[in-house]
Amino acid sequence: MPRKILVTSALPYANGSIHLGHLVEYIQTDIWVRFQKMLGNTCYYVCADDTHGTPVMLRAEKEGITPEQLIDRVWHEHKADFEGFHVEFDHYGSTNSAETKEFAQAIYRKLKAAGLIEVRSVEQFYDPVKNMFLPDRFIKGECPKCHAKDQYGDNCEVCGTTYSPTELINPYSAVSGAQPERRNSDHYFFKLSADTCQQFLREWTRSGTLQPEAANKMQEWLGAEGENKLMDWDISRDAPYFGFEIPDAPGKYFYVWLDAPVGYMGSFKQFCNANNINFDDYWKQGSDAELYHFIGKDILYFHALFWPAMLQHAGFRTPTKLFAHGFLTVNGEKMSKSRGTFITADSYLKQGLNPEYLRYYYAAKLNGTMEDIDLSLEDFVAKVNSDLVGKYVNIASRCSSFLNKYFDGKVLSTPDLWVIEAKEIDRTSKNPIFPFVYSRLEHINELYENREYSRAVRDIMAFVDCINAYIDVLKPWELAKAGEMELLHQVCSVAINMFRMVAIYLKPILPALVANIESFLNIEPITSASAQHLLPAEHRINEYKHLMTRIDQKQIDAMIEANKQTLELATDTHSPARHAEAQQHAIAPIGDTISIDEFNKVDLRVAKIVNAEQVEGAEKLLKLTLDIGEAQPRTVFAGIKSAYDPEKLKGRMTVMVANLAPRKMKFGLSEGMVLAASGDVPGLFILSPDDGAQPGMRIK
Ligand code: 2FM
Ligand code: ZN
Repeated sequence: MPRKILVTSALPYANGSIHLGHLVEYIQTDIWVRFQKMLGNTCYYVCADDTHGTPVMLRAEKEGITPEQLIDRVWHEHKADFEGFHVEFDHYGSTNSAETKEFAQAIYRKLKAAGLIEVRSVEQFYDPVKNMFLPDRFIKGECPKCHAKDQYGDNCEVCGTTYSPTELINPYSAVSGAQPERRNSDHYFFKLSADTCQQFLREWTRSGTLQPEAANKMQEWLGAEGENKLMDWDISRDAPYFGFEIPDAPGKYFYVWLDAPVGYMGSFKQFCNANNINFDDYWKQGSDAELYHFIGKDILYFHALFWPAMLQHAGFRTPTKLFAHGFLTVNGEKMSKSRGTFITADSYLKQGLNPEYLRYYYAAKLNGTMEDIDLSLEDFVAKVNSDLVGKYVNIASRCSSFLNKYFDGKVLSTPDLWVIEAKEIDRTSKNPIFPFVYSRLEHINELYENREYSRAVRDIMAFVDCINAYIDVLKPWELAKAGEMELLHQVCSVAINMFRMVAIYLKPILPALVANIESFLNIEPITSASAQHLLPAEHRINEYKHLMTRIDQKQIDAMIEANKQTLELATDTHSPARHAEAQQHAIAPIGDTISIDEFNKVDLRVAKIVNAEQVEGAEKLLKLTLDIGEAQPRTVFAGIKSAYDPEKLKGRMTVMVANLAPRKMKFGLSEGMVLAASGDVPGLFILSPDDGAQPGMRIK
């Protein structure tokens, strides 16, 4: 029986561009959905723009257009970006839709009827010039701790302290500059603290809906049995606000995070209406359909607490599973606008870079955990060129020319063939090639199902190596020269058949490449079932046409440069504190467990900074001269320029990794690394030992 599956990815905000960080999730989800479809399951993938909230309202105002005009424009941009990367939604909607509004209001009414809505007066900053209450991110002032000026209402970018906006010294409105007043207003709360919510969430968490790391985090948020740690959730905002009005509460709007996940339902409803699908089959309580939300780990709080509690108490089904992934770093660091690594989807495509390079690279990195993944641009170029162009596509170009030249493009299908020729490749693989590749189907499918794409890619590339080894051993070009035509025909037929098998495995990741392969092989679109047979005897392939070109490093350089130049206007929702609420609970994933012996391999030493200076031409680096008690001081280039004045570092003690392999950098050799803390809030903080520590002391 085919499964019935509904899949979503997080709805991107309608006031910013899609970037390569977003694409980790959409590509991850799209691969999973394509895989399910290939298996023959009924699988729908819906998404939408997340359109409401203060930032959209203010941005539209700044641009002199209505919020509706803004979200319409961005919707088209987002849609084009997704299409550009072959992310194929069954429906892409908007939270600003009649359907979403209806569900949001219906859910609210049900929660209210269940006694789960409470009204309380809340004191907040109010902008008397703009006549609006100010979200924390729109209040600025002097940091109460380090007295840095112009800091946001939730945390200081200079010293990293988090506080509430009322603690700011001389606060002012970032919208009008006016001094804000404190005013009271009624807010509507969803009573998450109610026993029924806590009880439900406890059970839901234990029922296998979450990855282990996420389930642990939930236990922490929920506290011990009877501890009732959850607080009620403020779901209303005062006018003016771009969003949906709360029923029977004039001037009160649903907070954007209330209607955002409801957008999953709204978008699906539109899809159902247009395609005659029964919405209730997927959303009614007790539905036998599966519902999966792919999300980033930073929004787990909303999806694992608020959302299931809302659904449960409004009479809908709850998600089958949440699939949370980690963040993207580029070249080992957080994406940065000034470094040009805040790469927009559009800028990638504009360089003419093939979107499937990125799909492949992400797949090669992704697994089912919440670990962060790194896009190392150097590795990206090397891996794509070597795996896809050098190894995979090359099989087709190596063999198809012989088939076309000597055999009229026709492929042999002799059952003996696999066995006879397989003996030849025993040198590289212990198994005959076809049974070996075919026998892995179940295994590869399992890896896709569990989102273990990196392992799937590794296994698939192992087949590719195996096929290349087969060709290398049997050397069709020599067979052609020697006139051994029958063997030549066999070898090329085997290779082309194996090439097709690999295409079946790669199709969820590389749909466009495989579509071209299908037309080159002159076959119908392949599905998982296609793996059960080979090309039929006498099947005729087409002329080989170029399938994929190598990445040119110049394209990457140009893309980085382009992104440096288009530093976007400040978009508050993309600032590190975009999920201030979620981040109070953000999960900083703890790395894999290591043994004490492994830890001891890292030689950490107390170091005295004897000199610190600017490095000409370096945006991020300071050059440090570090004394760790050796005859010669060490030189270390540290990426701390944004946070430290070199003069102030001179004479300070810090901590360095003393046995790190020296690294040749553009500005000289770096002989170690100093340690610094950083997190999702801005700021970088180098470590200092306590008074009395001497240069060279070992830290263990
Ligand atoms: O974090 C974000 O970008 C949100 N716009 C995600 C919303 S997901 C869902 F709840 F709508
Ligand atoms: Zn500060």
